[in-house]
Amino acid sequence: FIRIADMKTVFSGIQPSGLVHLGNLLGAINNWVKLSEKNSKNYFCIVDLHSLTGLPNKDDLNKSISDTLKVLIASGINLDNSVIYIQSKLQEHAYLSWILSNFCQVGELQRMTQFKEKSSSFGTHSGLLTYPILMASDILIHKANEVPVGDDQTQHLELTRNIAERFNSNYGEIFPIPEKSIGKSGARLMSLRHPENKMSKSSDDINGTIYFNDSKESILKKFKSSVTDSENTIKYDPELKPGISNLIEIYAAITDKEIKDSEKEFQNLQYGEFKIAVAETVVDYLEPIKKKYEELTTNDIKDIVEKNLKLAHESAAETIMEVEEALGIN
Ligand code: TRP
Repeated sequence: FIRIADMKTVFSGIQPSGLVHLGNLLGAINNWVKLSEKNSKNYFCIVDLHSLTGLPNKDDLNKSISDTLKVLIASGINLDNSVIYIQSKLQEHAYLSWILSNFCQVGELQRMTQFKEKSSSFGTHSGLLTYPILMASDILIHKANEVPVGDDQTQHLELTRNIAERFNSNYGEIFPIPEKSIGKSGARLMSLRHPENKMSKSSDDINGTIYFNDSKESILKKFKSSVTDSENTIKYDPELKPGISNLIEIYAAITDKEIKDSEKEFQNLQYGEFKIAVAETVVDYLEPIKKKYEELTTNDIKDIVEKNLKLAHESAAETIMEVEEALGIN
């Protein structure tokens, strides 16, 4: 696991928040699996320090972290070139975040859309404000050049680039300037019951969310009762037909087909038949993940966690050494 200059380094993070659902899998994790099949070095991190900004319940958070970890290990991410680890176990993240905070203006943080949205509902503690600096630190600590993220994180990535550029121009070229992954970013799934809202664990109607470990029966039931419309034409139109479009999106994401082609495939079906076809695709997709998840023993997990954390630590320590040297605090 040596650093090869022209090999890409990928970093991405997922917040541990409740049971992993299909929205998490098709929005991020499935994409990570594909990236890990390419010739890059990847760090996939459970960003529990980021979750603290929402002041989660202690037991919930603890359970979410271990569940998310197990799903990531079971997801099929290629562990030969990928490192999976928990952010809080690598204290260098928070250390670098402090250093980088000196290269970021308060005004920039206040202008972040997510800060503006969240600070109105939670009230404002400074963790919410400085959250994007921690995110910059996550990315830069492994000198990542490629970051797969959804559109809601593009602004934070832009800020990361600015922070890296400012550091470099003051103290020497330490950090690569990271870019957003091109190509399909993950699918954005909507609730099966309220297709105008995102699929989430906190959705008021749990029948709108498919959890990774739902039984086959439960998946079929949830899809059969999914909300569509009264037209009976299978067409992708998120504005006018959010329910049907969501089902097409799910199918396209799992099969890696284009939306247009997926739409065509089903155009002659009744809604009922279409729902079952998508449900079966989901069942088949989740099957190997569930199986691997159940097979993972405590020892397997312990071994993987130790080995991966060591790799993440080596990479972070190397960057920190260069940063400290550049700053004169070595
Ligand atoms: N902020 C991201 C989110 O809420 C999670 C995240 C934290 C992340 N650090 C990251 C994503 C670094 C990509 C790179 O989804």
